[in-house]
Amino acid sequence: RPVSLWGGRFSGGPAQALAALSRSTHFDWRLAPHDIAGSRAHARVLHRAGLLDDAALATMLDGLERLRADVESGAFVAAEDDEDVHTALERGLIERVGPDVGGRVRAGRSRNDQIATLLRMYLREQSRALGGLVLDVVDALVGQARAHLGVPMPGRTHLQHAQPVLLSHHLLAHAWALLRDIDRLRDWDARTSLSPYGSGALAGSSLGLDPEAVAADLGFAGAVENSIDGTASRDVVAEFAFVAAMTAVDVSRMAEEVILWATKEFSFVTLDDAYSTGSSIMPQKKNPDVAELARGKAGRLVGDLAGLLTTLKALPLAYNRDLQEDKEPVFDAIDTLEVLLPAFSGMVATLTFHTERMAALAPQGFSLATDVAEWLVRQGVPFRVAHEVAGACVRLCEERGCELWDLRDSDLAGISEHLTPGVREVLSVEGSLASRAGKGGTAPVRVAEQLERVAAVATEA
Ligand code: ARG
Repeated sequence: RPVSLWGGRFSGGPAQALAALSRSTHFDWRLAPHDIAGSRAHARVLHRAGLLDDAALATMLDGLERLRADVESGAFVAAEDDEDVHTALERGLIERVGPDVGGRVRAGRSRNDQIATLLRMYLREQSRALGGLVLDVVDALVGQARAHLGVPMPGRTHLQHAQPVLLSHHLLAHAWALLRDIDRLRDWDARTSLSPYGSGALAGSSLGLDPEAVAADLGFAGAVENSIDGTASRDVVAEFAFVAAMTAVDVSRMAEEVILWATKEFSFVTLDDAYSTGSSIMPQKKNPDVAELARGKAGRLVGDLAGLLTTLKALPLAYNRDLQEDKEPVFDAIDTLEVLLPAFSGMVATLTFHTERMAALAPQGFSLATDVAEWLVRQGVPFRVAHEVAGACVRLCEERGCELWDLRDSDLAGISEHLTPGVREVLSVEGSLASRAGKGGTAPVRVAEQLERVAAVATEA
C-alpha cells in the first residue's frame, strides 16, 4: 500500500479516483521549504518536552537539512501517491533517517495546524516581494511626475473635460492609491503574524509542546490564542487576496487611461517599442498589450478573491477539507501580479508624453468655466448667481463657436455687470492652476510639495 499518514483503520488504499481528487502536491509543493522549517521548529519543542532525546533531535535535524537540500536541488520530489506536501516530506524524512526517528516528527501536530501555519509563512514572505514590485510602479509614476512638473492636461470627470490639472498631479493620484495598497499589506502582516502551529487538528496538543517557541522560531510575533480559530480561519488569506485584487484594480484604472491616451484621437502618449506589440496582419499597428493585460488580469484577481470567499462562506468550524481550496486562488493572484507588475512599471517608466498637445487641450471644452464662477464669488457674488453667469458665458461661446477667452469685454458686461475685464486673470490655464492652491490642489507649488511627500513615503515603504 502507498505511504499514507492515516492507513491504520483502513483495509485498503484509496480508490484511484479519490487519490486523484485528493492530491494537492502539484500546487502545495511551493510550501515545502516552509514545511521543513516548521518540522525543524517542531523537532526542537518535542526535544524540549522530553519526547526526543539529544541524539534523535540531532538525527532529525540532520535529516531535515538533507531533505531541504534535496528538495531545493530537485533530487527529492513528490511521488504519485503522496497525498500532499506534508505526506511527501514525512516520507522523505523517514527515507533519510529511518522510521524510528522519522516516525516521531508527527507527534502533537496535524496537517491542519501545519497548513494554516505554512500558508501564513509563505504569504508573509510573498507580501514583502509584492510590496517591492508595487513600489517599482510607484517609482515609475514619481519619475514621470518629476520629469513633467508644470505640464497641464485636461482633468476629467465622466470622461468629459472638467478642469485643467497638472499631469504630475494626475500621475501622483495613481501613486497614492498604490502606496495605500502597500500600506494594506503592512497592516495585513500584523494580523497574520500569529502562528497556528501547536493547535493540532483543532483542540491543541496534550504533549506539553510550546506553541510560542515554535512561533518565535518561525518568525511570528506569537502563537494564536485559539486552536480552533488557528486551524479553521482563512480570513487572513482572503484579506491577502483582497489586497492583491485591489492592487490589480488600481493598476487597471491607470491601464485603461494609457489605452485611451495611446489612441490616435487622444495622442497623449507614445508607448516605447519595448512595451508594445505589433499585429500579425496590420503592419502599422502598435498595441498597448501591457495595459490591456493589466486590465484583463485585474478581472482574474477579482475572480480569485470571489472564489476564495465563496469557499469560506458558511463553512462550519473547525477544519474541513474544503479549505484545501484556499491555496490555488491566492497562489494565482501572486503569480499573476509577479509577472504583471514588472511589465507595468517598465511601460510607465518608458511612456513618452505629448505635453504640447495635452497643454493645448487643457482649457478646451470650457474647462475654465468654474474659474469664472469662483472669480465672481471672490468679487462677492453668491455662487448660485455666479454659476448661472458662467453658464451663460458658455452658452454664448457655444452659439458663436468660440472659447471663453474670445469673448469681448462688452460681451462679458452684457451677461453680467459683475463680469469686469479682471476676470481674464483666471481665463488662462496657468491662472486656473495657480489658483487651486489649497492642500491637495493642483497648483504647481502644491504639486511640487506633494511630489516630495510621495517620494518620502515611498522611501519609507
Ligand atoms: N492538504 C490539506 C490542505 O491543504 C491539509 C491536509 C488536511 N487533511 C486532513 N485530512 N485533515 O488544507
